[in-house]
Amino acid sequence: MSLLPVSHTQFQLKSYWDQFFSKRSTPFEWYGQYTDLCHILHKYVKITSKTLVVGCGNSKLSEDMYDAGITDITNIDISEVVVKKMGARNFEKRAKMSFTQMDMLTMTFDDCVFECVLDKGTLDAIYSNTDDETVAKVRCMWEEIRRVLKTGGRYVCITLAQQHILNSLLETFSSGWLVRTHKVTLDDGKRDEKREVAGTLPVIVFILTKMASLPAKPAMKVLEVVREDGRCERCEDTEGVRRFVNAAQQHSMLLHHLKSVHPEETGIRVQYWSEKVPDVPRYTFIVVDVPKSKAKNGLFAIFIVPQGREGEWIFSSDSGLKGLAEQSCYHRLVVVTMHLGHQYGDLHQVKHEVTGSALAMLQSGVPSNIKLPILSTGEGVGEGCVCVRVCPQ
Ligand SMILES: C[S@@+](CC[C@H](N)C(=O)[O-])C[C@H]1O[C@@H](n2cnc3c(N)ncnc32)[C@H](O)[C@@H]1O
Repeated sequence: MSLLPVSHTQFQLKSYWDQFFSKRSTPFEWYGQYTDLCHILHKYVKITSKTLVVGCGNSKLSEDMYDAGITDITNIDISEVVVKKMGARNFEKRAKMSFTQMDMLTMTFDDCVFECVLDKGTLDAIYSNTDDETVAKVRCMWEEIRRVLKTGGRYVCITLAQQHILNSLLETFSSGWLVRTHKVTLDDGKRDEKREVAGTLPVIVFILTKMASLPAKPAMKVLEVVREDGRCERCEDTEGVRRFVNAAQQHSMLLHHLKSVHPEETGIRVQYWSEKVPDVPRYTFIVVDVPKSKAKNGLFAIFIVPQGREGEWIFSSDSGLKGLAEQSCYHRLVVVTMHLGHQYGDLHQVKHEVTGSALAMLQSGVPSNIKLPILSTGEGVGEGCVCVRVCPQ
């Protein structure tokens, strides 16, 4: 049974959602579930936060948050079908949480009442195109969210941040709000249904904190991004946030491309950088596929090129790399090269560092707990040196 609309503008219609939730009784989670998001949510939503969930749908997120202690939750949705179902599902077990049919474009709450407004996929449903009418609805939605939030309150917006959404969001919230941006890593093992809606784009969480408006002063800009290792970095302008989101999107699309095997392609190169030496990539991964008929040894392996040999024909040219992959007899060989200026320790340390990133490059159907064969030339990590230095004229 297809629940997808004929046109994306239907995502804005009450009639579409009423029909969707009449057919669909099991929870349909857009953009991840509680376990994917809780490490971010609990940083920003306090146990005592008076929280409004806009467009709650039949997601389990509010229920899981309630069970984790955040009990002051008001859920609204335009579909009366879903609020009735959700109310019935929760009224005994989670008595403090309410479900109300309400259009978030015309909310009936007083000003400045909520400490948190949570939106998972609802902005994306409304902002399905860039027509004037749609843009006006989005403006209205954001104005309503601003109105009902207390100063210091947070709008937590979970979105795919497609280009038009990212642009408007940064334009609207870059002054008068603190903007912090996270990327969510969804558990690949159980993402089939999420994939249905999330496609190849990663899920982005914007934490938008409402600041006091001081008419005499120009609004301050505070823009931050949170890196995968948890480091929070300040961006000078919205361009920094855009770069962070776009890089996450490109990386995610590339990994999605690598889910299928491409023996016809030349090696796909992916560079990994480290903060310690910001000017030179730490590793280059080159993904080389060969037809399954030639993969006598298995489906997937890593080949670590000793430092100083990365420029040799076999490790640098497309035909050399194809030959190496065919000789190795793996369906996919990920060839890893190192770069001058970095310290690597021994081969064991390199294996440890590269394994996680290489596992993200598994093709579909390869079990994620595969024991990774790691191949090399037997020379260890090797040592790089500069042979010729060319001075710019
Ligand atoms: C993409 S779904 C997301 C559902 C839920 N948040 C989740 O994560 O699974 C969008 C939800 O927004 C609701 N919705 C759409 N327009 C709305 C509006 N104007 N006011 C309130 N809810 C709306 C829909 O009924 C639907 O439940």
